[in-house]
Amino acid sequence: MKRLKIALIPGDGIGKEVLQEGVKVLKTIDKIDNNLFFEFEEFPWGCDYYVKNGKMMDDNGLEQLKDFDAIYLGAVGHPSVPDHVSLWDLLLKIRKGFDQYVNLREITLFNQSLTPLKDKSEKDIDFLVIRENSEGEYAGVGEWMNKGTPEEVVLQTSVFSRKGTERIIRYAFEEARRQKKSLTSISKGNALNYSMVFWDQVFNEISQEYPDVKTYSYLVDAASMYFIKEPERFEIVVTTNLFGDILTDLGAAITGGLGLAAGANINPERQFPPMFEPIHGSAPDIAGKGIANPLAAIWSVAQMMEYFHEGNWKDYIIESIRVLLKEGRYLTRDLGGKSLTTETGDRLIEILTQMVTENKSK
Ligand code: IPM
Ligand code: MN
Repeated sequence: MKRLKIALIPGDGIGKEVLQEGVKVLKTIDKIDNNLFFEFEEFPWGCDYYVKNGKMMDDNGLEQLKDFDAIYLGAVGHPSVPDHVSLWDLLLKIRKGFDQYVNLREITLFNQSLTPLKDKSEKDIDFLVIRENSEGEYAGVGEWMNKGTPEEVVLQTSVFSRKGTERIIRYAFEEARRQKKSLTSISKGNALNYSMVFWDQVFNEISQEYPDVKTYSYLVDAASMYFIKEPERFEIVVTTNLFGDILTDLGAAITGGLGLAAGANINPERQFPPMFEPIHGSAPDIAGKGIANPLAAIWSVAQMMEYFHEGNWKDYIIESIRVLLKEGRYLTRDLGGKSLTTETGDRLIEILTQMVTENKSK
């Protein structure tokens, strides 16, 4: 029997609304599966908390989170707090503080009607982006000199350590080997003459240890074009923090939009808890209306199940999402439907429950 403690951080905007649906899925699993028990504790952190307390989370916030089995986060960000403050003090603080250096973002087309790409179908768009999640362009190193003067100079330094670069690339090779897939590195060595030349070198070095893995190496500009024109080229992708950020929004765009995109932030050594989140953000413009798409948040529950070695549950959730999208009767507005967040969540749970019960009785 597994008893798993989940820290809930609904955060801001639609984060609260979509997380609620994901929690419903977790509770359904808890109910059906006699071996799994989830305990929840909710943390009120976010921009409202900042407005009241002058901080995004408690000073010992990481300490409070560190013994949980997983963190489930909704979204962070509201016009009341500058984005770089809210994100650095909560989302990025957790990613960095818990050394969640792997960010897994699946780019999967569930249904041909969801892609704006003509002539592309499910078989063409099905890959995994492994984004470096702890350093690179997000190292937070820099300087703002002579602020507000004509001599103003701003530096934002990327940091690529050997340790940080090797570990993400090695993780990606391991994943490619395990899944028997090709691995594509995306960088920009022609212009970024230190960091990306180094990245490419490390990628080459490590590839020697994995002769069984077929590799490709693309410049990020060319890769963006291929995401649109030939997404079938990609199976497993490894890339830097910022490139991964940008490319996975693009990946979301070709698979139905941000309402479907989930991300897992993982410390593979399991020294710290992982964090699962939809990657769409807080969407203040539609917050409170009950119309946000909960499927990204639900997909992140699938990723959580995989992390917990509950692969069957991952598959059930993914298949339920596929069925829901195919039947097309309970879609939120971003997907051209009229359903409310809770209606889509409820339908997902119906499909999931039915699928599991049918399978059990076989
Ligand atoms: C994401 C988001 C974050 C990022 C922002 C909110 C800091 O865009 O998870 O993709 O850039 O990593
Ligand atoms: Mn992003």
